[in-house]
Amino acid sequence: MDSVAPTHVLLVSFPAQGHINPLLRLGKRLAAKGLLVTFSTTESIGKEMRKANNTTDDQAIPVGEGFLRFEFFQDGWEMDDPRRKDLEGYLRQLELAGKDALHQIIKKHAHKDHPVSCLINNAFIPWVCDVAIELGIPNAVLWVQSCAAFSAYYHYHHNLVPFPSESQPMIDVQLPSLPLLRYDEVPDFLHPSSPFQFLGRIAIDQFKNFSKPFCILMDTFQELEHEIIDYMSKLCVIKPVGPLFINPKAPNTSVRGDILKADDCIEWLNSKPPASVAYISFGSLAYVEQEQVDEIAYGLLNSGISFLWVMKPPGKHTDFKFHVLPDGFLEKVGNRGKVIQWSPQEEVLAHPSVACFVTHCGWNSSMEAVTLGVPVLTFPQWGDQVTNAKFLVDVFGVGVRLSRGQAENRLILRDEVEKCLLEATVSPKAVELKHHALKWKTAAGEAVAEGGSSDQNIQFFVDEIKRRCVAVTSTSITSF
Ligand code: UDX
Repeated sequence: MDSVAPTHVLLVSFPAQGHINPLLRLGKRLAAKGLLVTFSTTESIGKEMRKANNTTDDQAIPVGEGFLRFEFFQDGWEMDDPRRKDLEGYLRQLELAGKDALHQIIKKHAHKDHPVSCLINNAFIPWVCDVAIELGIPNAVLWVQSCAAFSAYYHYHHNLVPFPSESQPMIDVQLPSLPLLRYDEVPDFLHPSSPFQFLGRIAIDQFKNFSKPFCILMDTFQELEHEIIDYMSKLCVIKPVGPLFINPKAPNTSVRGDILKADDCIEWLNSKPPASVAYISFGSLAYVEQEQVDEIAYGLLNSGISFLWVMKPPGKHTDFKFHVLPDGFLEKVGNRGKVIQWSPQEEVLAHPSVACFVTHCGWNSSMEAVTLGVPVLTFPQWGDQVTNAKFLVDVFGVGVRLSRGQAENRLILRDEVEKCLLEATVSPKAVELKHHALKWKTAAGEAVAEGGSSDQNIQFFVDEIKRRCVAVTSTSITSF
């Protein structure tokens, strides 16, 4: 064990799966480059993570040349507090309790002689940047969506181009260096009709705070979004470091950030012929109406295609109901289909039996599909998902469009589901989609390999943290 404490970085995540995954993956990439990384989010999430992944938070886990450890904090509300259902109220509470908790954590490490040299947060908790300023610690932000979505929020915040408004809800949006976005392809938290406009305001709050971090890291890569990355790089210090889920320096790290335990499904996939299975999953938050679930079920049944379907249980602090499958559905599909509650998604998408991915187009799922060479059927719901769907289909050339998102307010019928499934798997178009997807897979592998664009950016970032690191200590980290 090294007798000199490595540079210590504290990562603070918004408590949601789609934010935890990319930040934890960044943590593993930084640890692999020799840093000591502490990953932190709320204890309510920590409890689930420990259960789902056997996460330990009493010792540092070796990852590549460095170490990763967990440290969770209380958000101040009981687990069953009914106020958790109100996300806007919860976010205010999180800021209140989180600021205090971070101060304590940082102070504790300073006293223990492994001071925090850099604080990294994802968007939606912009107050972490304020804590960094107060304590004089360098701060960076991980933007967990695409650079195109970043540009949309940036231009909206700075009022640089017209966006849909109450008086003009249907106008298209022309952002520099991007294709024209229809009104329903702009991140919909920015749309006047969105029921989640407060999430747009929270994202915008991060933009108000973007003068504070010295760098904005992004889970994308130069080759995938080069025009918009080049354009936005002239306006802010952004560093694309994705796809973060690939970690060439520590490929066998088993640390995961799942909140639900993944069900076994790899053996079942092993029993299927190559490129024969449709994988269906709508991420961790999106909830599809029961009526829509029925149509998807019949579309799958009628297509004759094998499928692995993630039907996650409704979120704990929601009023959503468990989905049910149509009567006799499982008997009819027999071993052709498997339904589970949560999957090890990267492993599933990397499996040779998987032919396509019916996805809600969360940015993590989008990146995982594109960079593992898997064509998609896009079924976005809200937020950046509608923008990601546009890019997957029209720009990256890896997708068939199944729906346009919640603004469309339309039931996608079984015939459409069946038609799109066949188009993405057994038509001439399927060959074209696969060709594009494999091209992105190669490009992603090159970006994260030693000396590739994302690897260079991570190295720049690590060097920059070390340069800014004021604290020098000679304490061994064996004390963790
Ligand atoms: C949310 C937003 O919806 C998304 O648009 C935004 O970009 C990030 O935050 P979420 O809806 O959960 O995320 O979707 P996504 O971004 O795709 O993240 C889900 C993560 O959970 C992925 O990394 C995926 O690999 C993982 N996952 C999902 C599993 O490991 N198993 C599953 O069964 C389903």
